[in-house]
Amino acid sequence: MTILALETSCDETAVAILRGSELLASEVASQTAEHEKFGGVVPEVASRNHLVHAPRLLERVARQAKVEISQIDAFAATSGPGLASSLMIGASIAKGLAIGFGKPYLAINHLEGHLLSPFFGEAKIKANVSLVVSGGHTMSILVRAVGDYKIIGRTVDDAAGEGFDKIAKLLGLGYPGGPEIEKRAANGDPKRFDLPRSMPDSENFSFSGLKTAVRYLLPKLGVIPNPATRDEGSHSRSLDSRGLLRDQSANERSLASARDDKLLNDLCSSVQAAIVDVLVRKTMAAAKKHDVDLVTVSGGVSCNRELRKQLGEACKRHSFEFKTAEPWLCTDNAAMIAFAAMLKLKNDVSSSVTQEIDPNLALAI
Ligand code: KG4
Ligand code: ZN
Repeated sequence: MTILALETSCDETAVAILRGSELLASEVASQTAEHEKFGGVVPEVASRNHLVHAPRLLERVARQAKVEISQIDAFAATSGPGLASSLMIGASIAKGLAIGFGKPYLAINHLEGHLLSPFFGEAKIKANVSLVVSGGHTMSILVRAVGDYKIIGRTVDDAAGEGFDKIAKLLGLGYPGGPEIEKRAANGDPKRFDLPRSMPDSENFSFSGLKTAVRYLLPKLGVIPNPATRDEGSHSRSLDSRGLLRDQSANERSLASARDDKLLNDLCSSVQAAIVDVLVRKTMAAAKKHDVDLVTVSGGVSCNRELRKQLGEACKRHSFEFKTAEPWLCTDNAAMIAFAAMLKLKNDVSSSVTQEIDPNLALAI
């Protein structure tokens, strides 16, 4: 069984070909550079770029995999959640190919792609409590089997990745913010700033309080103007290496992030510690409550080494098995979509080509 999958839910164009448990090719075209200057993803720009990248990537993966498109057994695409104008591109291509070659089409939920990714290449899914942490979502999920999911907790405001991204922006660091904060955190003191851990007794998550706490801490440190007077346009103000206030253009921001500044490193380390602490604590509580043997973590934020380390150690302490995907499978990619499609096909599940994309597609009730 050979599956070709497309992932175009946001600003990454990705195409992959999976044969059985063997990944024949997987390509991701990042659009970070195109969106960075706007400080976030612009849907119109993203969809135009998908249209440019997708045909090239299709050709490239077919060449790498040494497969003719006519030899593909099924075509899959992310059908939600995500940006409507982006989802539409990948789904339309997959549907067109499925109709043209008379093969099945599979509409895959992006979050299901993430949550199954720790099992990539394996034939069976073991029941687990899964923490999915991406740019748009933070969820803990009870996974009983493929397609059998129960949401335990979800964010009531910002997702963890969004928290990293927004705080990085406040600090004048680049986009996406998670890797930038992680880099600086490695040289910082995680205990220097006592930042809030919101909703400690809830199964849900909240990260906007942390962002607000950082926002109000900065003027107290005398390094960034009060948010009320802060310029929110294409110019922002940020820390320089001496902790002095300065105006920055978008181009200068990357210069500031390259400088070694103890205060900035300590702040990043304290922010990372607050996010990781909440994620680990709530995931362990969920795993204990739902009586599983296995804990998994996936999504872009699960690239974070501190999160992987602390969750791994907590699982060991509480005798849970711990599984995560390799970092390249944690950020958005089409291999995870192909894998989810493969598991569904094995269960005789496929989709109708009339199935619409859904920007708010739910994983479970
Ligand atoms: O899963 P993903 O690639 O895209 C979505 O589905 O949203 O996740 C992207 C998110 C971004 O918010 C990014 O800042 C975060 O993952 N991220 C990280 C790291 N690498 C990516 N967050 C923390 N530490 C990292 N190393
Ligand atoms: Zn994602």
